[in-house]
Amino acid sequence: MKFFIDTANLEQIKEAQAMGILDGVTTNPSLMAKEGISGDENVLNHYKAICEIVDGDVSAEVIATDYEGMIKEGEMLAALHPQIVVKVPITENGIKAIKYLSGKNIRTNCTLIFSTGQALLAAKAGATYVSPFIGRLDDNSTDGIKLIEQIVDFFNYYGYETQVLAASIRNTMHIIRCLEVGADVATCPLSAIKGLLNHPLTDIGLAQFLADHKRVNNK
Ligand code: G3P
Repeated sequence: MKFFIDTANLEQIKEAQAMGILDGVTTNPSLMAKEGISGDENVLNHYKAICEIVDGDVSAEVIATDYEGMIKEGEMLAALHPQIVVKVPITENGIKAIKYLSGKNIRTNCTLIFSTGQALLAAKAGATYVSPFIGRLDDNSTDGIKLIEQIVDFFNYYGYETQVLAASIRNTMHIIRCLEVGADVATCPLSAIKGLLNHPLTDIGLAQFLADHKRVNNK
């Protein structure tokens, strides 16, 4: 399973990259706004800065909601850097735009997926990734991981090449469950990635090892 970081914060991206476990980055307009990035030029420069930090795919989302606007913005984003994947919301215009962009060999990430039907349309249009939002489904008393499992199963059964990118991950358990059900990618906040490091027995064990070493080496 690939590991993406779900942020537009350059310091966090650098920190995850420095750990050597990062396969890519996802952003969205809310994450860009959180970093205070505004204005077309600043937004484009920020995407380029992210691409300079990581080796893998970087999802950059279109703001336009009309078909013409989506494909114009998508082509502009894709031309920015070879690592850019154009993120497009699952709407009727979004599906048409994904079909157009995939026909031009521009990679796409169909976002805001909350059902298998939406994932089916995105896959048929040629999306490189679909992004089902686990946490937001869980927030609404619906099992987000179950949706990941259903989409993985039907993509495998019918041989769709579209990758399942589990998004809206909130905690380490979401990541482990994504592994269990066969998600291709998990995009996670840095806190959840680093949370995987934690276990009290590791802390106790390390303290014991160091104490024993000190006991016999400080004589
Ligand atoms: O990748 C989508 C993600 O950023 C949404 O996460 O926590 O706002 O539901 P969240």
